[in-house]
Amino acid sequence: MATINVLDYQSFEAEEGKKLVNVLEDNGVDILHRCGGKSKCTTCRVEVIEGDFAPKSEQEQQTLAAKGFNEANVRLSCQVVVTGDCTVKPVMTKANSNLEPGPRPEE
Ligand code: FES
Repeated sequence: MATINVLDYQSFEAEEGKKLVNVLEDNGVDILHRCGGKSKCTTCRVEVIEGDFAPKSEQEQQTLAAKGFNEANVRLSCQVVVTGDCTVKPVMTKANSNLEPGPRPEE
């Protein structure tokens, strides 16, 4: 199990190997995932404050770059799985955007 700290939310334990976006949602974070986890919308992006995830895939890199998100610590939470303790900050939430989250990404 890994400890996930979410800025402005709470900390919780999550199973390694699970998609970060779903782990966040299942623990009360109203993060957006407007394209349903297809690496197209970037609304699920998080800033990684602490912790490491696997390197960005080509697709994740391209999607982020296409929208101008080139910072190394910005990740698409639908494209990363929990690999250990981390601290993240969700960028777009239902509360701060007034948008519906979108379809749940596949597990
Ligand atoms: S890029 Fe759309 S949900 Fe992750």
